[in-house]
Formats: sequence, C-alpha cells, structure tokens
Amino acid sequence: VTAPLRIVARDRTYEVAVGAGLLGELGARMRDAKIGGRTALISDQNVAAQWGGVARAALAAADYQVTPFVIEPGEASKTLASADKLFDALIEAGIGRGDHIVALGGGVVGDLAGFVAATLHRGIGFVQAPTSLLAQVDSSVGGKVAVDHRLGKNLIGAFYAPHLVIVDTRALQTLPARERWSGMAEILKAAFIRDSDLFELLERRLEDFGAGTASPEETAALVRRALEIKADVVGQDEHEAGLRMLLNFGHTYGHALEAAAGYGALTHGEAVVHGMRVALRMSVKLGRLDLAQAERGKRLLGRFPTPAWPALDPGEVMAAMSRDKKVQHGKMRFVVLDKIGAAVIDTSLTVSALEEGARFAAAGP
Ligand SMILES: NC(=O)c1ccc[n+]([C@@H]2O[C@H](COP(=O)([O-])OP(=O)(O)OC[C@H]3O[C@@H](n4cnc5c(N)ncnc54)[C@H](O)[C@@H]3O)[C@@H](O)[C@H]2O)c1
Ligand SMILES: [Zn+2]
Repeated sequence: VTAPLRIVARDRTYEVAVGAGLLGELGARMRDAKIGGRTALISDQNVAAQWGGVARAALAAADYQVTPFVIEPGEASKTLASADKLFDALIEAGIGRGDHIVALGGGVVGDLAGFVAATLHRGIGFVQAPTSLLAQVDSSVGGKVAVDHRLGKNLIGAFYAPHLVIVDTRALQTLPARERWSGMAEILKAAFIRDSDLFELLERRLEDFGAGTASPEETAALVRRALEIKADVVGQDEHEAGLRMLLNFGHTYGHALEAAAGYGALTHGEAVVHGMRVALRMSVKLGRLDLAQAERGKRLLGRFPTPAWPALDPGEVMAAMSRDKKVQHGKMRFVVLDKIGAAVIDTSLTVSALEEGARFAAAGP
C-alpha cells in the first residue's frame, strides 16, 4: 500500500487510500481519520453478500457500532424514494449528527448513500468504500452525490466531499466481467486526457486488467494512477468551471447514446467507449489529432468487448443530446484531443459536424 492520495475539496481535505485488502483495515483507517460516532453501513444485496462480512468485522474490530442497511442493486435504486426509505430507517435507528455513513458498493450505492449523508441532519460523516471498478476510479472521488429523477439522471444532488475513501482492489475479484470492463473505459478515458504512459500500459495489458487476471496489487497501481488523474483535475476545479470538464471526454456523445439506447441496454462504460470513438473522430476533423494517433486510440478501443453500436439513428442520439442541454445555439463545448494524453475543450463544433462524425464512427470497424 502506497501513501494515500490527499484531495483538497472546498469543504474539507480527505484521503484516498488504495490497496489490495484494505477493506480489512476499514475501521482502523477510519479511527486514524478521526471519524467518530456510530456507523450506518449502506450496501446493495450483491455487495453485502460478498463483502459485507469483511467490512463489518473490520468496523467491529475498531469498536464501531454498526447498523447495516441493504438496498436493491441497480440504477433503479438511485431515487428520492430510496433516499426517503433510508432517511426513515436511519432516523429510526437513531443515526444522529455525530454519526456517519459508510457506502460499501458501486456508484449507485455511493451516489445514493452520499446524497443521504449530505442531507441527513444537514450533513453527517461520509466514508466511501467503493467496490466496483467504476466507483473506485471515478464516482467515489470528486464529491458529487445525487439521485436520479424520472426526467433525467443525477438531476437531484449536491457537492459533498467524503471524509475518507478506502479503495480495496481485492473486492474486484467478485465483480462481474461486464462491470469490470465498464470501469476500464473510465481508466482509458483518464489516459486519453492526461497520461500517455498510462495509455501505453493499457496498450500492453488491457486484457489482463479487463478480464481480471492481473493481480490485485497490479490493479491497485492501475487504479491509483487513474485516481491521481481524477484527483488532479477535480482538485484544481471542484465545480466544473473548466478543467473538470475534461473528464467528460467521450461522455457528451456517450451519455446521449446511453439515454437513447434506453438505460440498461449499454453499461455506462460501453456507451463511453462508443463516445470516445466519436471524440477521436472529431479530434481529427477539427485538425487537432493526427491520424496515426487516432488510429492507435481506435485500435485500443476496438479491444473492448463492447456490444455492437446500438442500431439507433444518430439523429435520435443528437436529440437526446439536445435534451441533455449540452447544445446551445447549434454549438457545444466538446472535449477533444491534441494528442494522446492531452485533452482540450473545443467550442467550435457544430451539431451537424458531430452528427457526421458519429455516422462515420458507427460505420467504422
Ligand atoms: N458521483 C460521480 O462523480 C459519478 C461518476 C460516475 C458515475 N457515477 C454513477 O455511478 C453509477 C454507476 O456505478 P457502477 O457502475 O458502480 O454501478 P452499480 O453501483 O450499479 O454496480 C454495478 C453492479 O456491480 C455490482 N457490484 C459492485 N461491486 C461488486 C463487487 N465487488 N462484487 C460483486 N458485485 C459488485 C452491483 O451490485 C451492481 O449490480 C451511476 O449511477 C452513475 O451515475 C457517479
Ligand atoms: Zn463516466
């Protein structure tokens, strides 16, 4: 285990520890971080079955009094109704101002439990123990918490930094392969926008990490690198003024594709893989990225076991994008690459150019 990352957020500075087997140290590390009171341990059924026992034992060993709460797995649980049920259960269990929530699970658990932590008693302690690769490299860090609304994802939320993040890459051993690959898409995104060495590592070893044959220690080094990139970006720009927008590489089109395909048809990562193909194409079209680099990027994306491009008219996807309010006066802010490892925000892209790029990428290999 290497030294924890320190993230400076507006409300507090917090540590992110990454390593294989860290869940066994959860309680001890929370004590080190001066987190007091009782623990509401929030998880989903899948994660509770696999890792709930390890987490509870580690908390008990550090003398925390633990009350577990288990939600149904899946995005459908990320609602105000689920938050309300948790408010009932936590208040009835006597969770007070000086207590805290530990979110043990993927991004759904983290976003929902974080929303509850941010609002219950106007904010209680909040520890993230992410167990999906996506949550480990992306959603557990950065302080965004939210629930979905029937009219759109993440529409109701807040910025609420965690007090501590414990990333145990051993937990990934029980993560389904498709979820693992979804997280790999975010790691590749981090490489594209900020780190050509990481890109080269993925060129060498994508399948080892994607299929989970790399060791938990090797995976910890990979996760840490992706987290350093996210920490660096959000640390300088917590509220998405400019720099943080680079994390949207592949997401403008990816989000629209995900929505147009119907949530659940594609994982988030799969939609982002397609979105990154479009973004590479646009990077070339705008005269920024040279063709050889774009080809390298495309080849690596082609190694993801992503379901075929959904049979959607790119026009439908563009309509979803307009609903997402990404487009204004026919133009948008779109993240493109100058080269692999260096992303920039372009404001000259028109909707019609993007539509052409999407048709091209959808038709491509
Ligand atoms: N807050 C942010 O900044 C941010 C960033 C990106 C994504 N998100 C959100 O994250 C969510 C997606 O997160 P996700 O992909 O982790 O989805 P998820 O939480 O639904 O987890 C995916 C599946 O894997 C299971 N799972 C998780 N860890 C496991 C483990 N170790 N062993 C076995 N099964 C395990 C879960 O039960 C679930 O079925 C979305 O709601 C998205 O909006 C938030
Ligand atoms: Zn994403």
